[in-house]
Amino acid sequence: MVICLAVFKATAVTGDSLDSDIEVLLSFKSYLESWNPIERGKYNEWETEKQEVCQWPGITCTPEGSRVTGINLRDSTISGPLFGNLSALTQLTFLDLSSNTIGGSIPDDLSRCHSLKHLNLSHNIIGGKLSLSGLSNLDVLDLSVNKISGDVHSSFPLLCNSLVVANLSTNNFTGRIDGIFNECKYLKYVDFRYNRFSGEIWADFRRLVKFSVSGNRLSGNISASMFRGNCTLQELDLSGNDFVGQFPGQVSNCQNLKVLDLWGNNFTGNIPAEIGSISSLRGLHLGNNMFSRDIPETLLNLSNLVFLGLSRNNFRGDIQEIFGRFTQVKYLVLFGNSYVGGIYSSNILTLPNLSRLDLSYNNFSGRLPSEISQMQSLTFLILAYNNFSGDIPHEYGNMPRLQALDLSSNRLTGSIPASFGKLTSLLWLMLANNSLSGEIPREIGNCSSLLWLNVANNQLSGGLYPELTNMGSNPTPTFELNRQSTDYIISGSGECLVMKRWIPAEFPPFIFGLETLAKRSCRSLWDHVRKGKCIFPVCPPGSVVGPLEISAYLQLSGNMLSGEVPANISRMKKLSMLHLGFNEFEGKLPIEIGQLPLVFLNLTRNKFSGQIPRELGNIYNLQNLDLSYNNFSGNFPTSLNDLNEMSKFNISYNPFISGVIPSRGQLATFGKESFLGNPLLQLPSFFNQSGNNNSSSGERDNGREEEDHESAIDMLAFCWSTVLFYVVALMGILVLLYLDCPWCQSMAPPCR
Ligand SMILES: *[C@@H]1O[C@H](CO)[C@@H](O)[C@H](O)[C@H]1NC(C)=O
Ligand SMILES: *[C@@H]1O[C@H](CO)[C@@H](O)[C@H](O)[C@H]1NC(C)=O
Ligand SMILES: *[C@@H]1O[C@H](CO)[C@@H](O)[C@H](O)[C@H]1NC(C)=O
Ligand SMILES: *[C@@H]1O[C@H](CO)[C@@H](O)[C@H](O)[C@H]1NC(C)=O
Ligand SMILES: *[C@@H]1O[C@H](CO)[C@@H](O)[C@H](O)[C@H]1NC(C)=O
Ligand SMILES: *[C@@H]1O[C@H](CO)[C@@H](O)[C@H](O)[C@H]1NC(C)=O
Ligand SMILES: *[C@@H]1O[C@H](CO)[C@@H](O)[C@H](O)[C@H]1NC(C)=O
Ligand SMILES: *[C@@H]1O[C@H](CO)[C@@H](O)[C@H](O)[C@H]1NC(C)=O
Ligand SMILES: *[C@@H]1O[C@H](CO)[C@@H](O)[C@H](O)[C@H]1NC(C)=O
Ligand SMILES: *[C@@H]1O[C@H](CO)[C@@H](O)[C@H](O)[C@H]1NC(C)=O
Repeated sequence: MVICLAVFKATAVTGDSLDSDIEVLLSFKSYLESWNPIERGKYNEWETEKQEVCQWPGITCTPEGSRVTGINLRDSTISGPLFGNLSALTQLTFLDLSSNTIGGSIPDDLSRCHSLKHLNLSHNIIGGKLSLSGLSNLDVLDLSVNKISGDVHSSFPLLCNSLVVANLSTNNFTGRIDGIFNECKYLKYVDFRYNRFSGEIWADFRRLVKFSVSGNRLSGNISASMFRGNCTLQELDLSGNDFVGQFPGQVSNCQNLKVLDLWGNNFTGNIPAEIGSISSLRGLHLGNNMFSRDIPETLLNLSNLVFLGLSRNNFRGDIQEIFGRFTQVKYLVLFGNSYVGGIYSSNILTLPNLSRLDLSYNNFSGRLPSEISQMQSLTFLILAYNNFSGDIPHEYGNMPRLQALDLSSNRLTGSIPASFGKLTSLLWLMLANNSLSGEIPREIGNCSSLLWLNVANNQLSGGLYPELTNMGSNPTPTFELNRQSTDYIISGSGECLVMKRWIPAEFPPFIFGLETLAKRSCRSLWDHVRKGKCIFPVCPPGSVVGPLEISAYLQLSGNMLSGEVPANISRMKKLSMLHLGFNEFEGKLPIEIGQLPLVFLNLTRNKFSGQIPRELGNIYNLQNLDLSYNNFSGNFPTSLNDLNEMSKFNISYNPFISGVIPSRGQLATFGKESFLGNPLLQLPSFFNQSGNNNSSSGERDNGREEEDHESAIDMLAFCWSTVLFYVVALMGILVLLYLDCPWCQSMAPPCR
């Protein structure tokens, strides 16, 4: 008993008890609260009186409830640096603080959590260097999607004892990785994607299950010896690096391989014929390399092959005839090869199971093949950026499964076939940058899934008829269908070209994703969008936050469309971008437009007249509003001053507009370049002072010039709102930049 008491006393002194665990958790809680005064996560419910500590949300204990062993505060709106006293929880084995906005660098204290087995800090904004050398019992380490930098070479031998999963993807790590995991006996999953690792590859990767180093600066050869011995790999992703030389046929030693991704390197020579013996292979991504033109016949044996990507290998000439014999393949991606012919001679148009055909960025010419309509499995047909000419075959209307038709940037003439009205699964119709004429057929209104229509830069005439506003009225069945599909391998690399066209990344609300899109998420984004998951929150006019919904667009600019905009446009409930610029629309703008969740509204260079509806002031999401070069008249609606999100505004050259631009608020943040050629419009006097002349519109700090004109109090209020704007914008940007899928995770309330 004396001994027991002594032991008990000793442990109590060193803080090894449930009571001391509670103490630590409560100080953790008040620390978290100090960093986040509002909208607190589930730690807010941690309390001494109400419940046993082991019942607190996110807390797990030893089976007998004697010690705290796990903390799970995933997605709990935590901000500020990581708490520096977690090591006082001496039995902690599980810590998941992922999907928060934790910043700072990793505190030394975390290295003293010696019992830790599972550490997930992914999806935060943690910076600094990797310093976890004391965590020798870790089996799962997930630091993905943070800002951690520096070398990792010295960390790994120390972390290696029992490590199974190492996920450092999407950080700023640098340095070499050769030899790095030599001592990690149990390692199975390594994800080092999207960092700046350089030098040669770690040569022993074949003993893992999954190895991805996509998007780094690794170089050198992949040698045959790397595949010698037992290979357990199921996924090998070397895409987006600087590897050179021949790729070794010994890869066929990896008989469990499902995905081999070599996209975006400088591999040369023949595609190894031995790949044809890896019968489990489902995805073969060889695009953006310098492989030779001869595709080995053995690949035809890959009966499980779903995705075959050979874009951008500079093949030229005709499409190789062998592609017409890959009858098993569903996704055939051959864009960017400068092919000139072979669409018919290769027989690819008779592939029975083809679901996606991408022949964009080649040099095909002549008429569009009407035979394509026989491919009844086709869902994505991408023929953009070629030299196809002549009419669009009306037979394309007979492809009921078609979800995307992209014929942009060709030399097509004639009219849009009315038969397209039968395409009820169509989500995207991309016909921009051709020479199409005639009307947009009223039948397009029957395309009940059509959310994204881009016919910009053609010679279309006729009007935006009331029937047309019915398009996209019910995309749910199409999304449902896509959700049910079990093809996990829908996307491959190099999807960015397509996604930048389809999610018009040059316009808000889509613009913010451009950088991320370019690098990281094109692959998943496509899959995401075609399942109808949110890409942007759609806020009903009059409210600032809204449910996350898919947002639609209508891009009709650069045509000769005329007539009035129908009032029933208000039923396009998901429309967030409407571009009618450079057309001949006329008449009054219907007030119903104020019921749309628009972020972008561009009416420049039309003949709209009459009053600008003051209802535009209800569209609180609006970021770009261009009314320039019209014939609007009457009093300028000061309700537009309520549009606090607006960053681009142009009402120039509406000479009959009159009224007064308020000298305070959102409108005063734009320069006079937004108000050119409006002689009757009275602008705030500070617009004409020297300081403002060189600053163009849209800059929020233009208001600096107000100093002389506003009282000190107004100035203060203005400063605060500016500061607040920057803080909110910065937080938004930070969140956006560091989440893998900014379109769905970043906005409150979350999409569930
Ligand atoms: C860490 O927690 C222990 C136990 O609650 C406490 O004794 C110690 O003072 C704390 N240290 C710091 C730096 O907060
Ligand atoms: C870590 O957390 C992220 C985000 O919450 C989650 O997606 C991921 O699966 C977790 N990682 C592991 C290895 O469990
Ligand atoms: C690593 O993290 C990223 C981002 O959270 C995730 O998409 C990926 O699946 C993870 N990889 C592994 C091998 O767990
Ligand atoms: C390869 O796998 C076999 C069967 O699983 C095993 O007997 C053998 O020891 C392994 N060889 C090596 C070098 O690991
Ligand atoms: C690819 O390799 C060729 C020949 O070795 C070289 O000329 C070319 O610059 C390399 N391209 C890239 C993008 O590294
Ligand atoms: C086409 O797909 C169907 C259904 O998935 C499958 O049964 C059939 O074998 C496939 N055809 C070829 C030639 O692979
Ligand atoms: C049409 O051409 C313009 C100008 O070249 C380009 O910016 C735009 O992205 C093209 N649109 C599509 C859908 O390809
Ligand atoms: C409106 O569209 C035109 C033509 O595309 C473009 O030049 C202009 O910048 C757009 N206006 C705004 C405010 O984005
Ligand atoms: C422009 O509007 C003014 C005032 O409403 C009207 O008198 C004039 O005829 C209009 N001009 C054109 C070209 O429509
Ligand atoms: C507004 O449009 C006019 C006419 O196109 C242009 O000259 C001016 O620069 C534009 N203003 C801004 C702020 O973009």
